[in-house]
Amino acid sequence: MPVEFISAINVNPSNELNRLGQTAVDPAFFRRYVRELEAAEFDYTLVPYASSYHDPFAIANAIVARSERISPIVALRPNIMYPTVAAKALATLDQFGGGRVAVHFIAGGSDHEQAREGDHLTKEQRYERTAEYIDVLRKVWTSTEPFDHEGTYYQFRDFVSAIRPTRGTIPVSVGGSSDQAYEVGGSRADIFGLWGEPLADTRAQMDRVAAEAAKAGRSDVPRTWVTFRPIIAATEELAWEKAHRTLAVLQDGVSGASGWRGLTLGGSAPANVGSQRLLEIASRQDVHDRALWTPTAAATGAAGASTALVGTPETVAAAILDYVDVGADLISIRGYDNLNDLVDYGRHVLPLVRQELAHREATGRRGTLQDDHLGALATPTHEGALA
Ligand SMILES: Cc1cc2nc3c(=O)[nH]c(=O)nc-3n(C[C@H](O)[C@H](O)[C@H](O)COP(=O)(O)O)c2cc1C
Repeated sequence: MPVEFISAINVNPSNELNRLGQTAVDPAFFRRYVRELEAAEFDYTLVPYASSYHDPFAIANAIVARSERISPIVALRPNIMYPTVAAKALATLDQFGGGRVAVHFIAGGSDHEQAREGDHLTKEQRYERTAEYIDVLRKVWTSTEPFDHEGTYYQFRDFVSAIRPTRGTIPVSVGGSSDQAYEVGGSRADIFGLWGEPLADTRAQMDRVAAEAAKAGRSDVPRTWVTFRPIIAATEELAWEKAHRTLAVLQDGVSGASGWRGLTLGGSAPANVGSQRLLEIASRQDVHDRALWTPTAAATGAAGASTALVGTPETVAAAILDYVDVGADLISIRGYDNLNDLVDYGRHVLPLVRQELAHREATGRRGTLQDDHLGALATPTHEGALA
């Protein structure tokens, strides 16, 4: 599979740096943002979910209506929609987009956040339900005959959908770092989503997912999606200055975070394993491998995607290639200064990664980007995973 890039959608100019706290959709900003996503040649854009925030289906519909190529990834919590309804909603959206939709399952890291919308299952039960939910979705997308379903969480009779995904199915993603996440994602997902950890930790998680896939009798494994918040500038020095300025704002602003950024995923003692892991990793040291920087996670309770890649575009592109080299082929990058960073990544980072991959394809050999731009690996004290 080609290496593909994922951004995250924004419907107004508010971000963790300017803390405008706007919640309303700003149509002009949104149109510009979607245009820039396409101009930057991102492949996907995540439409996240939080109980206090916009409906992802409405946003995803607005994206496909205003674009030609970008694929929205709809974040879906099973508690908010019956699976037969979701199957048709996703297939309909997929038809309008000409086969450009993916769905990302959220089992839900926080009991408190889940209870806000009437979900009182335990996390274990939420993952079990997610597994059943995915099975129902796949059956609804493929069954041409009415069928009954007698499951633990869903029971229905004589159901058939006439609405098919453009390509017969829709990529299904599962994210998380708990044993249940590995099991449900490894056995059923096309894509497995991870937050940005050091290379060795990322590889270890990928091995857990692959083991669950094998246990489920699969001959394939889910594609791996890794997520970072790159902080780039023209020189290493300027990039680290910008990183520390960003950190100062995050440390000062945690309480002000609004909308899905205020997701109670992290915070003081996060309930979800993904955030717990990031905090543990951040407690080990600040810099990992070539450019991974974790104080941004420590400052925000690791509430979601919160680890940075810091350096020049060349160093960050080289760091991304390090993750490609351990097997990740879906690279999610979104900045703190959402729109401006998106434009910068499109101009300076994505082309470098794609050039190197095209060079490898054409010559069978690695280029010099990863040798020429060592980032933190250049500092002698740094014990890089690549050493
Ligand atoms: C790439 C990625 C994207 C995610 N997006 C969301 C989201 O939009 N909304 C949300 O509530 N949780 C989101 N999560 C959280 C998880 O999906 C997950 O349900 C939760 O963190 C529990 O994870 P655990 O298995 O690590 O404990 C995301 C996780 C990952 C890795």
